[in-house]
Amino acid sequence: MDGIYRYQRYIYDLSRKYFLFGRDTMLDGLKPPRGGSVLEIGCGTGRNLILAARRYPDARFYGFDISRMMLETAEANIARMRFDDRITVAEGDATNFSAKELFGVEAFDRIFISYALSMIPPWREVLPQAHAALKPGGSLHIVDFSEQTGLPRWFKAVLRAWLKKFSVEPRAELESELRKLADETGSDLRFERLFGDYAHLAVLTRR
Ligand SMILES: C[S@@+](CC[C@H](N)C(=O)[O-])C[C@H]1O[C@@H](n2cnc3c(N)ncnc32)[C@H](O)[C@@H]1O
Repeated sequence: MDGIYRYQRYIYDLSRKYFLFGRDTMLDGLKPPRGGSVLEIGCGTGRNLILAARRYPDARFYGFDISRMMLETAEANIARMRFDDRITVAEGDATNFSAKELFGVEAFDRIFISYALSMIPPWREVLPQAHAALKPGGSLHIVDFSEQTGLPRWFKAVLRAWLKKFSVEPRAELESELRKLADETGSDLRFERLFGDYAHLAVLTRR
């Protein structure tokens, strides 16, 4: 990941604004309880954590990422915005993480994953681990590229070719994988397709 983001991270937030749609809708839906804890898996430059910390001033935020370089940018952004006291970031791998080891926190009220599963080849392994790190009543929120079924074929072809350059692959089976996890764990699932199926937005709530 450092190979992809070594230089990209400097223009990341500006450029991604135009195609990582649905992130703000996802942040709107987080609504953590007062004094709650929120974790972002694959936090990148910290853009989402900073916006969420601004929106939910009573909550405490955590994020981890596999790229040390993205984390350096996140740390600088968090310090510049003076959120160091409410946002903590660390280096970790979404496919094998212990929030207790990374942050000393057993479980979270909210966990979110924004445009990261499409970059993680063994993405299925992330879902049960994220679910296990939720408190009872907590929820896992996922936004990512979908299949663009409602958009012109040329658009889909151009987008897919471009995403491939960044090792990004939309996860067509995310909905079925989440349904399976919801059934196995007795959780509730809400799954939506946004902007002509450009992106999907899922909320899995642990009972
Ligand atoms: C497209 S960026 C999204 C960043 C941020 N979530 C956002 O919405 O702006 C994907 C991020 O996932 C991270 N990532 C990729 N594989 C990962 C893994 N196995 N564990 C943790 N983070 C990972 C990348 O380093 C990158 O920062």
